[in-house]
Amino acid sequence: MAKPSFFITTPIYYVNAKPHLGTAYSTVLCDVEARYRRATGYNVKFLTGMDEHGEKVAEAAAEHGMTPQEWCDSQAPFFKDLWRQLEISNDDFIRTTEQRQHDAVQYLWERMKESGYLYKGSYDGWYCVPEETYFTETQVTKSDEEHHTEGQHLCPDCGRPLERVQEESYFFKLSAFQDRLLKLYDEHPDFVQPDFRMNEVRSFVEGGLQDLSVSRTSFDWGIPVPFDEKHVTYVWFDALLNYMTAVGYGVDTPEAKAELAYRWPAQYHVVGKDIIRFHCVIWPAMLMAIGEALPEHVFAHGFLMVRNEETGQGEKMSKSRGNAIAPQDVIDLLGVEGYRYYFMTDVVPGEDGAISFSRMEQVYNADLANSWGNLVSRALNMSAKYFDGKTPELADGWADEKNPLREIAQGIEGRYAEHMDKLEYVQAKDEVMELVHAANHYVEDMAPWTVAKDFTRIGELAHIIANLLESIRICAHLLAPFMPETSAEVLRRMGAGDEVDTTDLASVCEWGRLAGGVEVTKGDALFPRLQKK
Ligand code: ME8
Ligand code: MG
Repeated sequence: MAKPSFFITTPIYYVNAKPHLGTAYSTVLCDVEARYRRATGYNVKFLTGMDEHGEKVAEAAAEHGMTPQEWCDSQAPFFKDLWRQLEISNDDFIRTTEQRQHDAVQYLWERMKESGYLYKGSYDGWYCVPEETYFTETQVTKSDEEHHTEGQHLCPDCGRPLERVQEESYFFKLSAFQDRLLKLYDEHPDFVQPDFRMNEVRSFVEGGLQDLSVSRTSFDWGIPVPFDEKHVTYVWFDALLNYMTAVGYGVDTPEAKAELAYRWPAQYHVVGKDIIRFHCVIWPAMLMAIGEALPEHVFAHGFLMVRNEETGQGEKMSKSRGNAIAPQDVIDLLGVEGYRYYFMTDVVPGEDGAISFSRMEQVYNADLANSWGNLVSRALNMSAKYFDGKTPELADGWADEKNPLREIAQGIEGRYAEHMDKLEYVQAKDEVMELVHAANHYVEDMAPWTVAKDFTRIGELAHIIANLLESIRICAHLLAPFMPETSAEVLRRMGAGDEVDTTDLASVCEWGRLAGGVEVTKGDALFPRLQKK
């Protein structure tokens, strides 16, 4: 039987700047889920890419004396390289300047026109270029004094100066979808995750929806409207469609149609909380208008804030505050695997996270150097030392014997999966770390070095080491979505390398699958302790 599809997406990032800690955060978040789903038998499509149209990108290009296309081409490698470095396992990388997106967007325009939810009018209001968002006079003025300095209109969301726009425009009749959207939220309460974000979306929609201007004439860096070529597509109307373009939307071949039927709707759009309205209001309304299925879930994560060590408060990262942390700074400190582990397990997905270098060191040393890394090196060293460079030979039935590690390991994959299914990485990691900690205690309690002194207790020693190695093997599998390279290395060192690319996590995590009498490799410390700087 064909594997079920699991289609997960990151936002496509604007190419006005280099990838940063925030965009990397969304991308790693998706990567962990994609890897977990591959290991649990899904045929995964993990999509990321770049949002290349719009005024913001055109402005960035102009500042650098390039055409927008030259600019985008020059920036793409920065994204692709960082994702490769961070072990991002995306199956596709879409750029909205590609032909496939051009064609899909033009196809969308035709479907919109047929739908009756499109009309021509004129837009008169405000536009925030950094957010690529429209604001009406009332949205701007009701936000009172603080948004007006010296007659300037400032964005109610980001506080930057707004541009006045008065032009002919096509409108999408978003206002017609209020009831249908509210019904969607009622019938699918997990459409928006985590739960608390749903209230925000619902009250926005309850407040009433305005039709959305979806084309521009005063500016031309975008996809032309096929039936009215002086208009280009509003960047968000273009960008949101990328998710369907990448799975064959609008392509009239049997292969593309089959692909679309298999992949769409997506299981997860992962986005930052800043772009929830686009994904939870505008995008489902667009899909309703053209009669396409809606994505199953939009997962909105919080924002990374930098913890101010003096006040203990999280502050917005910015160049002007001088507190921005670059991905490379963190990679230099923690390594790629430590990087992934830190952001995925110390920041609660969904909530804002206050990050700091001292917290990074603390988490790395406690969890990775002292607990996980130390456990692996002790167990492999003892196995090699006491069993002639191998894992112990296992007597029949060894796996049925009760011991505290087996107690915890039983059912661990199920408990972990319940959390991983919902991107609850902190709780999922806690399940694994419970076994890691228990194994470290077990070493102390059982004192294998004492047992080893008495040759009549060799059977007992074999059990102790086997229980440790078996716990490690299971933990390595469960930690693999977070730290793929380390887990692969651990499994290789213990002679279980052929299990690395499992598609049946539940069964490889069953207690008792350890191979006895196979060679082990001791190797260097996986996570050398960081010294306080
Ligand atoms: O919004 N913490 O692109 P964008 C966590 N092109 N995540 C952060 C972050 C932070 N401090 N800063 C940014 C766009 N992000 C559109 C998307 S999708 C069809 C189009 C992440 O380059 C977060 O996921 O501004 C946010 O949603 C995304 O970067 C915005 O990236
Ligand atoms: Mg942004």
